[in-house]
Amino acid sequence: MFNAETITNIANAAYVVAALLFILALAGLSKHETSKAGNAFGMAGMGVALVATITLAINKQIEPLGLALLIGAMAVGAAIGLWRARVVEMTGMPELIALLHSFVGLAAVLVGWSGYLHVEHELDGQGALELAKEGMLGIHSAEVFIGVFIGAVTFTGSIVANLKLSAKIKSAPLMLPGKNFLNVGSLVLFVALTVWFCISPNLWLLVGVTVLALLLGWHLVASIGGGDMPVVVSMLNSYSGWAAAASGFLLSNDLLIITGALVGSSGAYLSYIMCKAMNRSFISVIAGGFGIEAGPAEDKDYGEHREITAEGAAEMLASASSVIITPGYGMAVAQAQYGVADLTRKLRERGVTVRFGIHPVAGRLPGHMNVLLAEAKVPYDIVLEMDEINDDFDDTDVVLVIGANDTVNPAASEDPSSPIAGMPVLTVWNANNVIVFKRSMASGYAGVQNPLFFRDNSQMLFGDARDRVNDILAAL
Ligand code: TAP
Repeated sequence: MFNAETITNIANAAYVVAALLFILALAGLSKHETSKAGNAFGMAGMGVALVATITLAINKQIEPLGLALLIGAMAVGAAIGLWRARVVEMTGMPELIALLHSFVGLAAVLVGWSGYLHVEHELDGQGALELAKEGMLGIHSAEVFIGVFIGAVTFTGSIVANLKLSAKIKSAPLMLPGKNFLNVGSLVLFVALTVWFCISPNLWLLVGVTVLALLLGWHLVASIGGGDMPVVVSMLNSYSGWAAAASGFLLSNDLLIITGALVGSSGAYLSYIMCKAMNRSFISVIAGGFGIEAGPAEDKDYGEHREITAEGAAEMLASASSVIITPGYGMAVAQAQYGVADLTRKLRERGVTVRFGIHPVAGRLPGHMNVLLAEAKVPYDIVLEMDEINDDFDDTDVVLVIGANDTVNPAASEDPSSPIAGMPVLTVWNANNVIVFKRSMASGYAGVQNPLFFRDNSQMLFGDARDRVNDILAAL
């Protein structure tokens, strides 16, 4: 019905439509109220892109085996994706995202290697001769080399991020001697190897850059401390976008270039916003903790902590007139949000002013606490951002710190030698009374002790946060 040229034109037009849908998806995801629509645009864009890509492949008379592999891989990928998305816990999202980034990185490495094997490896083959005639052989070699490098850095970097986020390896930063030199040295070596490869491409140079980038990716992320992990996840998101864009150049696929650039730049911008919120230097984080030196091991004596019972906490709350709740990762682990929502309702019925203070990196992914509280139907208007509530702690009777630790650590603002120094925190210690819900005196995600627990106005309520909240509800 259509000739080959018309089909190519239609598929290319579909690519433009998909690119627009991806831009609408990003715009939608930037606001809470429009995020569902944003997701729908993204899914529609990906559907259009897949159909257009398969149509183009058929139009270029792809071999039956190639088509079978393409469809088979899509079916297997879709089945695994659907299954993982259904079973993943909210707390496991960041590590799943990190793992998905590693696949993009690996794909970019494989595309680069395949590009090399089809062109540079057979310099008297058709592909290489055609490129050489157009004077594009050097450009192709650069695309192969850069794509493999970015892809391999993303691959191992994302695997380390996955292992750290799932607590399979320690989250403390790796401090190799001369680590900054190793990072900068690897980049200089990469530039030198790229020039060499463009002048005289050969297999061993490609093997060399692959190994170099795999090691660099591992080292970059291993050098970043636990507190900076949220930034790392969005930074790897950005790297995976650039890796996809590099593959797009190699495969001459405009949509992959556009999509990669969208992911790359939005990921970089999100990393920048998060760094600003945590008062971290963007360059320092993306360069793998550049300039951060290891602090001495902690052996400080913070004194004694006090404990309170659920009945004691209920009494204190019953006589309070203003309460602020600052939830953290522990509320997600305990799934305490429903009890917290009930407690909020009960206290408000008694005329107590109850509000929530949400730290930008509380929990394990951006917006984690907001999602949990919305799920438990806590009204939006009493859920405030850190900047909106931080000045109000002075006039607050009781603060309930529910499973939060690093995000309420006074050392961040008072101890310049602390690994989390400079990170803005919720200043809960300014309230008259602070009750900390946790199971033990263990440190939080960043692995640093919290002097808040030893303050005169703080009391610990030990145990699983959900059980303790229920005990308070019963006592009230
Ligand atoms: P954390 O500092 O991780 O502390 C959570 C606390 O919850 C722990 O001290 C733990 O103490 C307690 N806890 C765990 N399970 C509990 C349970 N069932 N019942 C009661 N308490 C429980 O939490 P945070 O204040 O939310 O800070 C988040 C940290 O994660 C920051 O360092 C941040 O940089 C990092 N991070 C954030 C993100 C994003 S984007 N939000 C992503 C990755 C990493 P016990 O073990 O003693 O109970």
